[in-house]
Amino acid sequence: MATLPDLTTRLCRISQEHFIDPFSRIEWPESLERNQWFMSPELISLHGTEHFDALDEEQQKILSFFELTNFFSINIHGERLLIEGLAKRLYRKHTEVVSPYLHHFLDEENKHMFYFGRFCNQYAGKVYADKKLAVERDYADGEEEFLFFARAMLFEEMVDVYNRRMAKDQQLVPISREINWLHHFEEARHLVFGRRIVEELFETHADNWPSDIRQRIGDELMGFLDGTWKEFFNPEVYKDADLPDAYALRREVLANQAVEARRKTLSTRCGRTLYKLGLLTQESIQ
Ligand SMILES: [Fe+2]
Ligand SMILES: [Fe+2]
Repeated sequence: MATLPDLTTRLCRISQEHFIDPFSRIEWPESLERNQWFMSPELISLHGTEHFDALDEEQQKILSFFELTNFFSINIHGERLLIEGLAKRLYRKHTEVVSPYLHHFLDEENKHMFYFGRFCNQYAGKVYADKKLAVERDYADGEEEFLFFARAMLFEEMVDVYNRRMAKDQQLVPISREINWLHHFEEARHLVFGRRIVEELFETHADNWPSDIRQRIGDELMGFLDGTWKEFFNPEVYKDADLPDAYALRREVLANQAVEARRKTLSTRCGRTLYKLGLLTQESIQ
């Protein structure tokens, strides 16, 4: 396995060679007809429930527009926190070796926010609000650092599942495919980096973390995965798509067995690195 400095050099080179200018790369239609598929039907939060089946195709497509806007809004808020945290870590003692790559990471996330933000504002007239709350607490040595990169990795693993699926879905409106493809293309490097730095930080600090601290870290990351998953079930989306009883609908759909099965599959997939490190177990996603 390459050392972290070698990986940093390689990723910097690829970022330079594949530098993407999102300003000229994407074609932005003046406006978009909403009676088209924007998000792949099987990724829509209601999919697999009787509520989705009860909608006609036009209603499903309109819902897919607001679901994609919500997905892009989730990305914007996740990336905003990521940029904040990455900027703080530039040239810090423990992460000095990766600073050259953090510059690319920051640059790329900023560009992602540009195209996600433009889509939301130009076509939906808004970005859905962020509902996450940050809780201040004390950390063991290395814990905060580890949690920052582990959360970033989980977030990027999760959105990449959606990006990859939509990048190749030919029924989607071209701008959705293009943005999902562009994002996946750069996220592939972030994921390689993310998994590696999480492993590296674990090796550095985990011996000093007693079992209760490890348990706390595992629980917090599982809570983060769950919280991110729930953001995909946004009552504001249901209201915008003219679905009745948006809050009751959210509660009902989150308890649906097919939806719950999707959550477990996704969590298992996104948590691979953490399973390897023994921080998550199959039981923790139940
Ligand atoms: Fe991104
Ligand atoms: Fe990223």
